[in-house]
Amino acid sequence: MAFVKVCALSELEDDTPKRVELDGTPVSIVRTEGEVFAINDVCSHANVSLSEGEVEDCMIECWLHGSSFDLRTGKPSGLPATRPVPVYPVKIQGDDVLVSVTQET
Ligand code: FES
Repeated sequence: MAFVKVCALSELEDDTPKRVELDGTPVSIVRTEGEVFAINDVCSHANVSLSEGEVEDCMIECWLHGSSFDLRTGKPSGLPATRPVPVYPVKIQGDDVLVSVTQET
């Protein structure tokens, strides 16, 4: 499982997702409630970037139709999305945020 540096911890603002690409995979990096999460940046309902949505209560909301996804598990809280979005393990080393997209959590 290869962890890759995606950004600096200090450049992440609380509840403001940052979109990155890792090996061609779009990933939204979210700092919230004292933790950092990595979730696939594409809504499971349609091809919409989740990083453009709002973060609240450890959930990220798809701005198009309003499904929210749990940042810990990727599971949607309600319709119209029914399938989870992949989430990825995150490591913090000093000020570096590392993510592995080769293993989903
Ligand atoms: S595109 Fe995300 S809920 Fe419809």
